[in-house]
Amino acid sequence: MKVDGNDMRPIWFDNKTSTAKVIDQRKLPHKIEIVDLPTVDHVIMAIKEMLVRGAPLIGATGAFGVYTILFENRDNTNIKNNTDQCNNLIQSECKRLKNARPTAINLAWGVDRVMNHVLKEQGYDAKMNAALEEACFIVEEEAENCKNIGEHGASLIEEVSRKKQNLTDKTVNILTHCNAGWLATVEYGTATAPMYVAFDKGIDIHVWVDETRPLNQGARLTAWELGKHGIKHTVITDNAGGHIMQHGMVDLVIVGTDRTTRTGDVANKIGTYLKALAAKDNNIPFYVALPSSTFDWSIKDGLAEIPIEERDPDEIRYIQGLDINGKITSVLVPPEQSPAANHAFDVTPARLVTGFVTERGICKALESDILSLFPEQFST
Ligand code: MRU
Repeated sequence: MKVDGNDMRPIWFDNKTSTAKVIDQRKLPHKIEIVDLPTVDHVIMAIKEMLVRGAPLIGATGAFGVYTILFENRDNTNIKNNTDQCNNLIQSECKRLKNARPTAINLAWGVDRVMNHVLKEQGYDAKMNAALEEACFIVEEEAENCKNIGEHGASLIEEVSRKKQNLTDKTVNILTHCNAGWLATVEYGTATAPMYVAFDKGIDIHVWVDETRPLNQGARLTAWELGKHGIKHTVITDNAGGHIMQHGMVDLVIVGTDRTTRTGDVANKIGTYLKALAAKDNNIPFYVALPSSTFDWSIKDGLAEIPIEERDPDEIRYIQGLDINGKITSVLVPPEQSPAANHAFDVTPARLVTGFVTERGICKALESDILSLFPEQFST
């Protein structure tokens, strides 16, 4: 996507250094800082510490992580000359990569996909080349998927816009939670992709952006993205959604997801469930946008089966920002001795979801409908 006239992605491969590079999203929106990922430890740190975040981007980063295993061992003759040792190392390092964050299924999906390609190859260089090729392929495929999500999802916004044509205020008001934008994917985003397409078609839209405590992905990242694209938006507290829905100020909710079951239960950033409840109570359509890499085809019960990440309580106790030198700084809010609990995601049951926007089209949150778009997953 364009930032001040320049094309930008949150991850790319740099041929000069033979490494993946990422934007350090902890510093946004105040500073664009680029970080190199030359080793698996760097990749794991970037995912855990959330330099990169958002399910599809974590998947792409994990995919490059598999290449990194081979890149960092390229001068290790023991590994290079012994296929069994090499494959064992790849498998154990991939396990470490997949454990970096538990909720987004895209991480395991991206790592496994590249690992399976690499294990089939004979010879160290062939493995390394296959890893890089597949990681780059995943990045382009995810970008294309998000583009298609945008095209399909824009029809929902256009429909609301058509219904409002006779009203004095024709603006379509969309609420979103967290950041499911291009920063969380590779291009376009998932929840934001329909907004970009609708806006580019000239539809009058305005986005309510939940700030998304504790790390403020909405206030910092979504607001920044939308602003750079010229889209009208307003940052609101996480608790404001119910109120503005009751007062007719929201036409449509669109969020992303970190893992969705084949039956349509949706894990997404903490607070999503409350937005879905409020939307249901106010008859407001609640859509979830996702690429197929975010479906976990192996599970049916989101509440029981999706692991919910619990992060450091200090993310809640200390509010973070940047000081005048561009360094991350923090301020303590509750009494020093008060404990805090930091559940990073929640599960919205399928019954509260109006539908899914995928790269193949829009469907209801029902296993049969989801599978009609992805029939190849019938038997998984
Ligand atoms: O903790 P984060 O910032 O990685 O959480 C991100 C989200 O919850 C997004 O909504 C989700 O990954 C969808 S991204 C297209």
